[in-house]
Amino acid sequence: MSKEMKVTIVAGDGIGPEVTREAVQILEAIGQWNGTRFQFVEMPIGGVAIRQHGSPLPASTLDAALDSDAVLLGAVGGNEFNLLPPDKRPEAGLLQLRQALGGFANLRPSVAYAPLSNNSPLRPEVTDGANILFVRELLGGLYFGEPRSWNRESGVALNTMRYTRDEVVRVARIAFELAQKRRRKVTSVDKANVLEVSQLWRATVTEVSADYPDVTLDHQYVDACAMHLMNTPRNFDVVLTENLFGDILSDEAAVITGSLGMLPSGTIGGKVNLYEPVHGSAPDIAGTGKANPLGAILTAAMLLRHSADMEQEAQAIETAVQRVLANGYRTADLARISQPDQQIVSTREMGKHVFEILNEIIDCNQAMHAV
Ligand SMILES: NC(=O)c1ccc[n+]([C@@H]2O[C@H](COP(=O)([O-])OP(=O)(O)OC[C@H]3O[C@@H](n4cnc5c(N)ncnc54)[C@H](O)[C@@H]3O)[C@@H](O)[C@H]2O)c1
Repeated sequence: MSKEMKVTIVAGDGIGPEVTREAVQILEAIGQWNGTRFQFVEMPIGGVAIRQHGSPLPASTLDAALDSDAVLLGAVGGNEFNLLPPDKRPEAGLLQLRQALGGFANLRPSVAYAPLSNNSPLRPEVTDGANILFVRELLGGLYFGEPRSWNRESGVALNTMRYTRDEVVRVARIAFELAQKRRRKVTSVDKANVLEVSQLWRATVTEVSADYPDVTLDHQYVDACAMHLMNTPRNFDVVLTENLFGDILSDEAAVITGSLGMLPSGTIGGKVNLYEPVHGSAPDIAGTGKANPLGAILTAAMLLRHSADMEQEAQAIETAVQRVLANGYRTADLARISQPDQQIVSTREMGKHVFEILNEIIDCNQAMHAV
């Protein structure tokens, strides 16, 4: 049965539109394959929205986003806006959008792609086969806890790390459910030897785990986890953690992949899920055709997996990306002097190669079904 899917595209600034274009092309190929009728609604956000509407998140963009099945974002930000107050800058539009959509579970995969094994500062024998999914709680903890203050006269500043049991339960359920579709292991990360908030976290995650007897749960302190991620990244499947620890650990683990341009993300659990590559608008390379679109393309795969229940299609995209890399194609950020057999390609060419290989995978699949 064919399905309709309304996706709001907020491509944003700098390289945002360049990489998003390639991701949309890949979603269109998927639609051709499985009959999904994608309706892409392009709306302004960030600097482009400030220029057109005087606001980084116009009401029409927010309305479209709330009225869609998923939102795909490129990136926001530009040097010309750097002198504006923080609440008027392009980045404020993204923060407002995240808040309005209400997602509380931020998903960040960290994958070692074999053809890029020399791009990571870690040795290939350490990263080989690593495939980690971070589930970071996004709306609680130290970043949002009240009271918060900086009293300049007394020289005292204060932030509050606060979680409720319900906030831990809902994000833990997401981690366990995702682990059931992967290698069935959750590592919950806390600092329960020092922090009461972490003791609540650990007790609650342990309690929730009883509903998922097929998933193995282990607990690690955040300092030990930071070390294990670099020593034995293969041992991790799903890493569940609170806001601050997740922010730091997911960036640390990004070195496994080796390039910022390769990293996808999604934020789920709210009214509408939001998908965005991890990188920013990269004003230094915008318009030069040097942007790596693979992070955005892998973000499109996450959109299919988590908002459309299209696991097979998501995997087909990920396989296509792997094969394009194995064939030696590299955008400038991935190129290494030590690899003479690589071919340096532009954003559009990289997108085209993924598109072609994806179509080969689709043809092969259809031929198998026809037998
Ligand atoms: N989610 C977002 O929209 C987001 C995230 C981070 C930064 N920003 C904004 O982006 C602007 C630039 O910030 P920044 O320079 O700190 O971070 P950035 O991620 O834009 O760029 C950091 C470095 O990585 C490179 N890079 C990033 N993405 C790449 C890609 N896909 N392909 C090849 N190279 C890539 C850039 O050229 C740059 O050298 C700022 O205005 C910042 O506020 C937005």
